[in-house]
Amino acid sequence: MTKSIQVAIDGPASAGKSTVAKILAKKRGYIYCDTGAMYRALTLSALENKADLDSETELESLLETITISFKQKEDGQHVYLNEQDVTDEIRVSDVTNAVSKVSAYKTIREEMVNRQQKITSSNSIVMDGRDIGTVVLPNADLKIFLVASVEERAERRYKENLSKGIQTDFETLKKEIADRDHYDSNRKNSPLVQAEDAILVDTSGLTIPEVVQKIEKELKTFL
Ligand code: DC
Repeated sequence: MTKSIQVAIDGPASAGKSTVAKILAKKRGYIYCDTGAMYRALTLSALENKADLDSETELESLLETITISFKQKEDGQHVYLNEQDVTDEIRVSDVTNAVSKVSAYKTIREEMVNRQQKITSSNSIVMDGRDIGTVVLPNADLKIFLVASVEERAERRYKENLSKGIQTDFETLKKEIADRDHYDSNRKNSPLVQAEDAILVDTSGLTIPEVVQKIEKELKTFL
């Protein structure tokens, strides 16, 4: 039996983690798990249910009642909150602006990490997030820490939004990304930090295929 492989990809918002992770998983036939989508699904549920975002216990009780799952479809991976397809809803700005707060709570993180570790089981997987190499999969075969300048990340988001017909203000995008970096990196519970054994990949100025190629090169040393 071939050994299952775990690849952990961490890094700040909009560094290209999910794009790269998805391509890599597809190429290698591994499962892909977007852990940010799980925090986003809970945040969406909290907003829909008008939960108090300042109440950890209220959010914890809400999380106990919901299921978050992924399904592979022809056009990519879809995210489900209970039976509802929330793939697009979890990307709206109300969710993006509230998710850092929701994901900072200790009990919420513990339950999410639990669920994420269960998804891994014995399958080869590419998992992306903020604490994958440090907390969720500390023994991952390959750990990548993806970074890019705030300017470049804002530019990517700006173009992505434009391609979806969404007009955004570039400076606002930049500020939102910088604010989320600050919040995610300075929270008390599992802040965004590079694992000691993670390989730093700066994606500034690199194309997506170039980043994937870099990671695949590192991966080959484990296969
Ligand atoms: O990767 P993303 O932007 O979809 O993540 C949404 C938020 O969830 C992000 O602001 C930080 C949080 N997050 C986290 O705390 N831990 C993870 N493993 C993944 C995401």
